[in-house]
Amino acid sequence: MKKNFILSVLMVVGGMTASAQTYLNPNAPVEERVKDALGRMTTHEKIKLLHAQSKFTSAGVPRLGIRQLNMDDGPHGVREELEWNTWSPARWTNDSIVAFPSLTCLASTWNRDLSQAYGNAVSEEFAFRGKDIMLGPGVNIQRTPLNGRAFEYMGEDPFLAGEMVVPYIQSAQKNGVACCLKHFVLNDQETDRFGVNVNISERAMNEIYLAPFKRAVEKANVWTIMGSYNMWKGVHCCHNDELLNGILKKDWGWDGALVSDWGGTTNTMEAAMGGLDIEMGTYTDGKTKESDFGYDDYYLGNAFEKLIKEGKVPMSVLDEKASRVLRTIFRTAMNPQKVIGNQCSEAHYDVCRQIGEEGIVLLKNEKNILPLDIAKYKKYSNILVVGENATRSLTQGGGSSELKTLHDDSPLDALKRRYETMIDYAQGYYSGRAMYDHVDKLDPVKQAELKAEALEKAKSCDLIIFIGGLNKNTRQDCENGDRESYDLPYGQNELIAELAKIQKNIVVVTFGGNPYAMPWLKDVAGVVHCWYLGSEAGKSLVNVLSGVVNPSGKLPVTFAQKYEDYPYVKFGAEAYPGVNKQVYYKEDIFVGYRHFATNNVKPLFPFGYGLSYTTFAYGKPTVEKTGDAVTVSVTVTNTGKVAGKEVAQVYVTYPQMEQARPVKELKAFAKTPLLDPGESETLRMTIPMDDLAVYDEEGRGWDIAEGMYTFSVGTNVNDIKGKADVQIDM
Ligand code: GLC
Repeated sequence: MKKNFILSVLMVVGGMTASAQTYLNPNAPVEERVKDALGRMTTHEKIKLLHAQSKFTSAGVPRLGIRQLNMDDGPHGVREELEWNTWSPARWTNDSIVAFPSLTCLASTWNRDLSQAYGNAVSEEFAFRGKDIMLGPGVNIQRTPLNGRAFEYMGEDPFLAGEMVVPYIQSAQKNGVACCLKHFVLNDQETDRFGVNVNISERAMNEIYLAPFKRAVEKANVWTIMGSYNMWKGVHCCHNDELLNGILKKDWGWDGALVSDWGGTTNTMEAAMGGLDIEMGTYTDGKTKESDFGYDDYYLGNAFEKLIKEGKVPMSVLDEKASRVLRTIFRTAMNPQKVIGNQCSEAHYDVCRQIGEEGIVLLKNEKNILPLDIAKYKKYSNILVVGENATRSLTQGGGSSELKTLHDDSPLDALKRRYETMIDYAQGYYSGRAMYDHVDKLDPVKQAELKAEALEKAKSCDLIIFIGGLNKNTRQDCENGDRESYDLPYGQNELIAELAKIQKNIVVVTFGGNPYAMPWLKDVAGVVHCWYLGSEAGKSLVNVLSGVVNPSGKLPVTFAQKYEDYPYVKFGAEAYPGVNKQVYYKEDIFVGYRHFATNNVKPLFPFGYGLSYTTFAYGKPTVEKTGDAVTVSVTVTNTGKVAGKEVAQVYVTYPQMEQARPVKELKAFAKTPLLDPGESETLRMTIPMDDLAVYDEEGRGWDIAEGMYTFSVGTNVNDIKGKADVQIDM
């Protein structure tokens, strides 16, 4: 009897203890789980949370049953599994995935719903692979068309980048997978990325470069952010007190965990006091050889623990960091709502294809050479496809965003499926291997032979589809190096010009993350730019070329006629790529179209530009100020013969002010649903007053100017269909 009594008492106590283990209660609020877990941890266990325990994981608390954090690249899909401690592939046989289109392609859709679909699909693949943090998306600003990683980002305008990244983050995190928004901040070039110090005005910093990150914090509550390698005000951004503790955590009230870029941490005291929460990739970042340097040797490892034990850093600093990491663990790894996910499902391929189809931009379509629908292509007896990108894998290479895919549908395969025997192919040029930090020496004899073969075949065809552009090779669209020229590489310009002389029915299709020069533009009938389309590249491209899908993509960057037209170039090397690792953003807020439109520099193709197979008419826009917002309305009508989607863009012109402002700044946009011929849609776009605030350099704060504002509605920044004014008095 007595024994049973004691047993039942122990069970009750045990039960109370168990239920008192709030951190293990999946239904308890995250903050209570954090607090309870922290109170049970030793100092050493708190330290272990703050740094890597392998290439892509950081520790949990094994003794308490708190899970580790599994991280992985990248913004376009889940990277292949690497070995525990090295950059070498682990050679798994079940980690082939879907490569989704590049984020510049997503931005080019201007479609928030597709951004939501993207975040949902890609995070399902991360979840299925057991990952808790996906190392992406990226929203660095495309200030130079030479940036090797621009393809991973969302263009030159902070509002477009911010608006298009928010749905992606919201839907990914709804699945219990944390996004890791990168690279915070000013990682806008790859040249000298590990040590360049960016000199920039407070106004440009706030209005342009911080803005998309701030939008993601305020509207999507992104759970982790990756610090960038470069410096700001002479301090590395992975542990920059003013940037991380001041702006991100205090001013913006961000409660997530700041993750270093791999190898971005440089000293213990700065890492301790400068806002870093999880140190990754130190001494295993490829900057130095692998060594017997252990994970406890990390700056936030033993060295930090020593400072805590000596009282040189208060325990509160450690508790603050550990709380942020625990919060991330309970939001992801130990989140009962986290999805199982799936890999390579039809649904994922559909999302991939749709984003590609809506991200493709039709830049030129003379004599309606496109679409190549049955009424047209039956006229042609022989369609010649020329160019390496018709067959080359563009999902491999590029650096940390490279992917191992289950299958990639190439443009040539898709063209052959659609147009069958009419398709002939000539490679035309070659580019060597897509190797990280290695450029193959190309054989001029082989190049000449490939070119000669293409020119010979061109003589007997009646339509040419050239498929080229950039690729993921080093010094093209690839991490750790920038492009060395604004021109297309591998002799493509000469090849296109000579092909156009032989056959004037020529459509140029390009892939790439950046604008480039088109000296042959007047000699070709059609131009289509695709960014990178991922695993369904062939289907997306051929659906647009054939007219199955009417293109609706709009440029998220300005294509300049020539490199020298970009605003920073006139300031010399100091403005890019910098001198002695000091770079000065001398164009200030006049990035991209803000420069071109304000200074009447005619671009090759303006920001927001993209043609359709149909036409649209705009009604007169109206604007009304209601409470703390301005609403712009406009009716768009499909006046053509085929169904299509249109993106209406709203640019604001501020009242005259002391500080120079761009003549136009994007403040709203909306994409119509698919409109049938004759169908109209009235778009209502609301602009919160806060979005109209400008950064006052002197006052070091945001200000809403009083006066007459003009809202211009257009189909691109230079093609305005109507304007409306509204007086704003605060
Ligand atoms: C790289 C990149 C970063 C990536 C990380 C892990 O150096 O800068 O974007 O997520 O290391 O591969």
